[in-house]
Amino acid sequence: MDLVIKNGTVVTTSEMFSADVGVQNGKIAAIGQNLSGDEIVDASGLLVLPGGIDVHTHLQMDVGKFSTADSYFAGTRAAACGGVTTVFDFALQDFGENMVDTIKRRETLCAPQAAVDYAFHVAIKDISGNLLDSMKQAVEYGVPTFKIYMVYDIGVSDGDFYRALEESAKIGARISVHAENREIIDLLTKRFVKEGKTDPWHHYLSRAEFTEGEAVSRAITWAVSAGAPLYIVHLACKEGVEALIKARKAGHKIYAETCPQYLNFTSEVYKREDGHLFICSPPVKGKESNEALWQAIKDGYIDTVATDHCPFQKTDKDEGLTDFTKSPNGCAGVETMFPYILSEANRGRISFSRAVELCCTSPAALFGCADKGSLTPGKDADIVLYDPSLDVTIANKNMHSDVDHTIWEDVTLSGYPVQTYSKGKLVYKNGEFVGSPGWGRFIQRKLDN
Ligand code: URP
Ligand code: ZN
Ligand code: ZN
Repeated sequence: MDLVIKNGTVVTTSEMFSADVGVQNGKIAAIGQNLSGDEIVDASGLLVLPGGIDVHTHLQMDVGKFSTADSYFAGTRAAACGGVTTVFDFALQDFGENMVDTIKRRETLCAPQAAVDYAFHVAIKDISGNLLDSMKQAVEYGVPTFKIYMVYDIGVSDGDFYRALEESAKIGARISVHAENREIIDLLTKRFVKEGKTDPWHHYLSRAEFTEGEAVSRAITWAVSAGAPLYIVHLACKEGVEALIKARKAGHKIYAETCPQYLNFTSEVYKREDGHLFICSPPVKGKESNEALWQAIKDGYIDTVATDHCPFQKTDKDEGLTDFTKSPNGCAGVETMFPYILSEANRGRISFSRAVELCCTSPAALFGCADKGSLTPGKDADIVLYDPSLDVTIANKNMHSDVDHTIWEDVTLSGYPVQTYSKGKLVYKNGEFVGSPGWGRFIQRKLDN
């Protein structure tokens, strides 16, 4: 074998056991005892995990006058250093654009830069004329997942959302939804601006808990009615969790992701001096929502954890220091997601197996990454070595993104990844990126709907 990782503890979604992991030609070749190979890595005292999969990032994305701070290279470099070996990016359709052209446009940008493997979702803006048909062409191209925004100026009408749901059911695709109530948020925002209430706390109040919860319920109602599966991105509120659980108990294919920022923080962050740095949508919610999210993770209703990595430089965020409406929405997270969830496992909140399920196995299964998600012979050798005894206090100066701050500054994690392999190649070791741009490959996918 090319590489054998010896004496570590292998983690699957159901168990943890001592074994060697053998790698040949970039694939997992064997899990067993006394394996031999050309290169031996001693993983005594370490956990051996599948690489994380972040199904929600916004790299090299323009939003009005702002651009996200991470290029495809910087974002995938940061991913590698946080144990993430597959990154999904949102390819934002232009008005009038065939969705396959959207994907190709982003693939051309991403391919020479990607340090780990990557995939795309198409964020749908326009299904007028024959553009709806380009959803099927995108599926055939290997991109069977699409995002609909119910908010922002790129949000589609309810009718177009419903048509896209119907189409997705026909063609083996799945819609992801950013669920918030645009009109009520607009109303509350205008009211607060008029009253001069523009501090970061009013970002939270303008997107009150119910504005997400009721939109989640509506989106679920439409998906069920259209006979379509639905994936709720960045679920952040208790009412949304309740709607999800109700749909799941009724047997519907409604899936949900949450993000570390909703699990580690509460809306109290918007009262901090640096509260504007936490401006994202949906905003970080209150304690009850935070607890509901954790309970849903423990009970198996939340399927995945992803980041919504959408970093903007501090000068951009500072535009929202005293007026939340001026801040670009989004925070960095691709490098801290897997370490944070593993740290919660290390502290006993969930099991390591559940952490692997949330960040690796379940995203691979739900998003059709057949070669990813577990340490199983035949799959890609995307492997993370994790030291449970290494405590790390997060500092942006040690991060590998191009953004100049992190909302995770000073948060101490219990345990940390020490090595990451992408298809058998070492891309991260002990705090250093050792990979290269262009190593990552586009993953063509097919759903198991
Ligand atoms: O505030 C956020 N989350 N910005 C990124 C775009 C989105 O809504 O996912
Ligand atoms: Zn969103
Ligand atoms: Zn997002």
